[in-house]
Amino acid sequence: MQSQPLLDLSGRVFVVTGGNGGIGLGMAEGIVMAGGSIAIWGRKEAKNAAAVARLEELGGRAASFVCDVSDEEQVIESMDRSIDALGRIDGLFANAGRSARPSKFEDLSLEQWRAVLDVNLDGVFLTLREATRRLIAQGEGGSLVAVSSTSAIHGAARSISYGAAKTAVNGLVRALAVALARNRIRVNSLLPGWTKTELSTAAFEDENFREVTTKRTPVRRWAEPSEFRSVGAFLADPSQTFHTGQMMTVDGGYTIF
Ligand SMILES: NC(=O)c1ccc[n+]([C@@H]2O[C@H](COP(=O)([O-])OP(=O)(O)OC[C@H]3O[C@@H](n4cnc5c(N)ncnc54)[C@H](OP(=O)(O)O)[C@@H]3O)[C@@H](O)[C@H]2O)c1
Repeated sequence: MQSQPLLDLSGRVFVVTGGNGGIGLGMAEGIVMAGGSIAIWGRKEAKNAAAVARLEELGGRAASFVCDVSDEEQVIESMDRSIDALGRIDGLFANAGRSARPSKFEDLSLEQWRAVLDVNLDGVFLTLREATRRLIAQGEGGSLVAVSSTSAIHGAARSISYGAAKTAVNGLVRALAVALARNRIRVNSLLPGWTKTELSTAAFEDENFREVTTKRTPVRRWAEPSEFRSVGAFLADPSQTFHTGQMMTVDGGYTIF
């Protein structure tokens, strides 16, 4: 008997929101390396184009679309354009996110609160809903992933809106895993730990913060985005038929230490 590769995403198409850098690009690279195709959604055209070039260098098929995930019309249009360009959809990674400006709770304005929830919760809702509609219509199952955070587990005292949004995302994922199981659509969340990306640059450059978080991480370092390649490919993999409704934490042991 000839052995087949364990993971083969050839012919499969995944949307990665915020896939033009950081953890999203890491996961997109992993999917392409396993043979899959990628539609990247991000707000900045030049970053989108650079990410597509990077995925093509790895031998993959990729396209990008300028999209603000907090805008319903843009989400619907980007989904139409992605499916037109790549032919189908097998899953979506709701990875686009922003950080919160550090603030004491008593000083947090409604405007600041909403700005974070607009992207980190409404954006996840809109993109998952649009992907769900298309996956149900296609009728072949699929994989939905929402990128949460370890801030959904530990008390993020200075990033309250961020922690609240990331916690809500996990509730949304569990509800969808139940609701969509009959459609063979798996729904999971990914909780990354401290990772060196554009979003976390200010935190990483704060020497005291970097030292404290590094000491609290059993592997004693922050992650590189490339460490999310195999995580992305695993979550996309249609042969993972029994993995749904889970919070997958990839944090160097931060939350169990
Ligand atoms: N880095 C960490 O330590 C860490 C830890 C836990 C969780 N996370 C989560 O991981 C995810 C990825 O973040 P990252 O750390 O990889 O940071 P990143 O490199 O800055 O990536 C954030 C991505 O989101 C996109 N984005 C931001 N706002 C958007 C919007 N309104 N519409 C569409 N795209 C938008 C950005 O692209 P444009 O600028 O082109 O829009 C960018 O591609 C986020 O959800 C973040 O909360 C990160």
